[in-house]
Parts: sequence; C-alpha cells; structure tokens
Amino acid sequence: MNKIFVFFIVFLLFPPQIQPQTIPRNISIFILAGQSNMAGRGGVYDNTSKNIAVWDGVVPPECRPNPSILRLTAKLEWEEAKEPLHVDIDVNKTNGVGPGMSFANRVVNRFGQVGLVPCAIGGTKLSQWQKGEFLYEETVKRAKAAAVASGGGTYQAVLWYQGESDTKSMVDASVYKKRLVKFFNDLRNDLQHPNLPIIQVALASGGGPYVDAVRKAQLETDLENVHCVDAMGLPLEPDGLHLTTSSQVRLGQMMVDAFLAIPSSADLYVAIPSSAELFSGLSVLVLLPLFFL
Ligand SMILES: *[C@@H]1O[C@H](CO)[C@@H](O)[C@H](O)[C@H]1NC(C)=O
Ligand SMILES: *[C@@H]1O[C@H](CO)[C@@H](O)[C@H](O)[C@H]1NC(C)=O
Ligand SMILES: *[C@@H]1O[C@H](CO)[C@@H](O)[C@H](O)[C@H]1NC(C)=O
Repeated sequence: MNKIFVFFIVFLLFPPQIQPQTIPRNISIFILAGQSNMAGRGGVYDNTSKNIAVWDGVVPPECRPNPSILRLTAKLEWEEAKEPLHVDIDVNKTNGVGPGMSFANRVVNRFGQVGLVPCAIGGTKLSQWQKGEFLYEETVKRAKAAAVASGGGTYQAVLWYQGESDTKSMVDASVYKKRLVKFFNDLRNDLQHPNLPIIQVALASGGGPYVDAVRKAQLETDLENVHCVDAMGLPLEPDGLHLTTSSQVRLGQMMVDAFLAIPSSADLYVAIPSSAELFSGLSVLVLLPLFFL
C-alpha cells in the first residue's frame, strides 16, 4: 500500500480542524509604546457627577476583535485582543480606543496572526523611556516574552506615540530628538533587530508651550526605517489633548500606510492567490500570440 493511500485514509478519518489559537506559532509582533494617546483615550470622558473618567464603550467596526489578532496581557500571556488594549497595562488611568486595533485589522490579512504588545503609559516623559529606566526595561521584557510565548514570533514594527509631556519644559523639548534617537537605537539593539521598522507619530497636541519644538524633532528624525505620521489636525476630545475614537481609527490607518511603504514589510508578504492569478493571466497573454503564429 503506498503512502499517498495511507494519507488519504488518515485524512478521511481525521479531517484537519481549526485549533483554538491559544499558543500562536510564528506570530507577527507589533510593539505599542508611548503615552496616553497610544494607550488610547478615544471615547473617554469625565462624568462630572461622579468626578471620574469613564469610557463610553463604543467600538467602531475598524476596531472590532478578530480571532487572529492577539494581545499580550500584563501576565505575559496571549489572549484575543479587544478594546481597550491597554486595560491591564496603563492601570492608573481610564483607557479607551487607541490606534492599535485599527492598525491590526488593516494588516492582519498579510500576516497569519498579529500579536500586539501594549506597553504605553499615560503622562510619561521621554526621559522615562531611556534605557535603564523602568518603562524601557519593561518594554524589552514584554517584547522578548511575546517572541517566546509564540514559539519564536517575528518582530514587525514598533508603533510609537509620545511627547505631549515633553512639551512642558524647554529642556525636555530641546533634547527630545537626541533622546528619541537613543531610545530607538537602544530598543533595536536590545531586540537584536537593527532595522526594525518604527512608525512614530508627530504630536497633535501637548500639555505645554513647546509642541512645535517636539514635533520638529519627531518630523526630522532621520533613521532608516523610522517613519513619522503627522497627527496634527485630527479631531480631539473636549480636553484638547486626546484623540477621539474616530481620530484613532484614522491614525491607525495612517500608520499602516507608513508601515507598508517600507519596502521590506510590503514585499515579503505578497498574497499567493493574487500571484497565481497574475501568473495565469500572464500565461494567456504570452501563449496566445504564439498560438496564432
Ligand atoms: C514566520 O513568519 C514570517 C512573516 O510572516 C515569515 O517571513 C517567516 O518565514 C516565518 N518563519 C517560519 C519559521 O515559519
Ligand atoms: C454619571 O454617573 C452617574 C452615576 O453612576 C450616572 O447616573 C450618569 O448617567 C453618568 N452620566 C454620564 C453622562 O455618563
Ligand atoms: C499606579 O500607581 C501606583 C501608586 O501610585 C504606582 O506605584 C504604579 O507605578 C502606577 N502604575 C502605573 C502603570 O502607572
């Protein structure tokens, strides 16, 4: 009896089944870091009668969960991702919608599985993200754990949105670029990924007078595979500081466009069906003239 026949019998007896994806294999990892607008405040408003911030719970279609989009919890385990992505990370604040789910839903078809690693904490300054500081070390730890917890996932990009807190002091604003370059270089080195794509956001708002100085540093960061999308002009919540839910949806899509414009990220993942279609189309084009010779 030949092997193909045996495979056929086995296939009939045990048809392939979709397994629950608790331990993803070779997941595509995206690290989310920065401060409140990355953690997500879309839909968060002040309930004045209770004097606390609450999230309105509105999840637009672009941010809906998908079984192929996972998030790394504070306990370093994968679970199906849903808003608010930073709920167990930025624990002292009320979290709402950020750019992460909108981003993930737009790239998930290119990767088998997407693994989001939320690391952003509201109100933090760039000095707190320097190598050796708690937030930096925590981010490296979580990123490494994500790769291990997925049997060796692939780092795809860092999504970074931070700087509002650095607009308050002239000193922080004036050294922003230097600190940012060091942070990006250190992170890439520690993840052993010297060319890891980084998509950063130029501020839409800030807590102090030096917004333009920080934005200038962000827009002028000139490192390979570091791209900046500009959030200026996206509508803000009434607090004048945080992006609304629909702004976050838009921002996630802008970050996808920037990410896919990086040649290495787009070229690697040409969908097989479309290249097969292209091939058969080409064959017809090439063969027909030969036929009529
Ligand atoms: C893991 O996934 C990436 C991107 O989807 C792919 O380039 C790589 O070849 C895969 N590695 C393995 C071992 O399957
Ligand atoms: C604020 O909280 C109170 C008490 O829980 C609730 O009755 C009210 O509907 C809330 N208001 C808004 C605008 O959410
Ligand atoms: C939350 O607040 C506690 C108490 O002030 C503090 O120890 C902790 O570091 C804070 N955690 C975050 C993530 O901000």
